[in-house]
Amino acid sequence: MNSDGKQALNAALAPYLNQIEDSLQNLSLDDHIPLFYDPIRYFLDIPGKRIRPLLLLLTAEALGQKTETALPAALAVELLHNFTLVHDDIMDNDDTRRGHLTIHKKWDIATAILAGDGLMGLAFQSLLQTPVPDVATMARRFTDTMLIVCEGQGLDKMFETEPIVQPPRYLDMISRKTAVLLELSCELGAITAGVSQETISNMRRFGYALGMGFQIQDDVLDITGDSQTLGKNIGSDLQMHKQTILTIELQKQYPDTVIFDLSVSEFVALLKESGILLKVQDMYRNHFETAFEILNGLPDNPAKKHLQVLSRFIQNRNW
Ligand code: IPE
Ligand code: IPE
Ligand code: MG
Ligand code: MG
Ligand code: MG
Repeated sequence: MNSDGKQALNAALAPYLNQIEDSLQNLSLDDHIPLFYDPIRYFLDIPGKRIRPLLLLLTAEALGQKTETALPAALAVELLHNFTLVHDDIMDNDDTRRGHLTIHKKWDIATAILAGDGLMGLAFQSLLQTPVPDVATMARRFTDTMLIVCEGQGLDKMFETEPIVQPPRYLDMISRKTAVLLELSCELGAITAGVSQETISNMRRFGYALGMGFQIQDDVLDITGDSQTLGKNIGSDLQMHKQTILTIELQKQYPDTVIFDLSVSEFVALLKESGILLKVQDMYRNHFETAFEILNGLPDNPAKKHLQVLSRFIQNRNW
């Protein structure tokens, strides 16, 4: 996965990323049961963007907490995210993730299901080690959010066989499968800092807006992106009959076209010709703008600057 954006992000946020990578490396994965632990180690060793733990650490720091204190929770959101990815790749029948074979392709489906289960257990184990008084509240929010992500994944799968999905249902689905986890990351960062409910709620709104923008942008990158840079299969959503804002808008404008019969290049050509691509790009930019506005309301400090840098990278990502 080579990308200038990724290298620049690594350089800008190196101390935080190093903390995250070190704690992933230090996870003790018992090597006596390789069938269980080898795929988990394989997956964690492939560098992802680590957006969620970065959001958690930077939020904690921006609100006055030490990153060391927030680190177990940061690791937990990354592990939870990795669990969802391993199972998502089975559900979406994808061969590539982060530029490498998905676990179910490198091993098999049973192994990948087990690896996902293990990642979920490791996530809870790490979260509960967060040395703050409100750890029970954090665990409650973490559990609720995990269920909502699964609900979102359920809706995503249901929509594959629905001929028409209206935009509000799509927005509800992506809010569940993706936005709530970015929201949770910021919320947990804020809780570790012991700040007011109002500040927690502002940080939640920031993470949520970022998350909504992130998934709409992901749906666009699925067909306009470069597979090498993105590290994922291009056109996977179209192939799997996923209802995204792109297919929904296109179907509205071209009711007689069978969208899922189009090739990726025909699909992209129609999105450009119809103006829908621009419209959808505006949609995710608006969510990012909302995120920036909320961020601007925070008191100035170096971690706030880092959150702005991270948000900018997310906004401009192609990987
Ligand atoms: C992929 O998330 C899943 C979505 C919610 C679109 P990321 O793009 O953050 O994946 P990694 O962790 O960087 O690989
Ligand atoms: C991912 O949605 C949401 C979760 C993993 C919960 P996608 O299916 O669009 O993510 P990618 O494109 O495979 O990363
Ligand atoms: Mg997928
Ligand atoms: Mg999916
Ligand atoms: Mg996607």
